[in-house]
Amino acid sequence: MTAEALVGTVGIRPLRPGDGPALARAYARNREHLAPWEPLRPESWFTQRGQEDHVGRLMGERAAGRALPWVLLDGDRVVGAMTVSGIVRGPFLSGNLGYWVDGTVTGRGVATAAVAHVLAACARDGLHRVQAGTLVHNAASQTVLRRNGFDRIGLAPRYLLIAGRWQDHVLYQRLLGDG
Ligand SMILES: CC(C)(COP(=O)(O)OP(=O)(O)OC[C@H]1O[C@@H](n2cnc3c(N)ncnc32)[C@H](O)[C@@H]1OP(=O)(O)O)[C@@H](O)C(=O)NCCC(=O)NCCS
Repeated sequence: MTAEALVGTVGIRPLRPGDGPALARAYARNREHLAPWEPLRPESWFTQRGQEDHVGRLMGERAAGRALPWVLLDGDRVVGAMTVSGIVRGPFLSGNLGYWVDGTVTGRGVATAAVAHVLAACARDGLHRVQAGTLVHNAASQTVLRRNGFDRIGLAPRYLLIAGRWQDHVLYQRLLGDG
């Protein structure tokens, strides 16, 4: 489970094919913590098989240049994930950032440091822009984005189906490099 860097008190490294079982345990542990902020998940999401499928899909997206997925680690435990998905190349060079941190390690600057790590990798990958959307009342996530140089670009009504309801989101973007 060796990490490539420390972000606060935990490690971070790119997602690997064998991460499904540890991710399934992490999602099961964090089910209530994440429920208000995520889409409704089917029961299969919390199983080893479900996470192996999810990891397989992300690996395919990474190989195609459309995703950059990471996991956060505390020893052998997965304690979070950072995923840049929906990367579009050409004149857009932009991707969407999503993340979560295990309820036992929040409030220690982990997400702030991990987002900084991910932005540096996005810049090395040649991306021009990273976008993120938060629920209007997700103050912790908005703090994480602001601290990483994201600018608020607007309010998107009924933007994502979160916790079973189409909910408004504040959209943020961070431009990378000089272009
Ligand atoms: C949002 C989340 C990733 C933040 O992770 P984290 O590691 O705790 O973040 P950090 O410690 O780097 O920074 C969070 C900041 O927000 C603050 N914060 C936490 N809850 C808050 C709240 N309800 N209101 C205002 N600020 C809050 C923290 O105190 C901290 O600021 P501080 O360092 O000045 O104390 C984590 O809470 C999480 O996984 N939440 C559930 C999933 C989620 O919301 N994902 C993001 C979807 S956009």
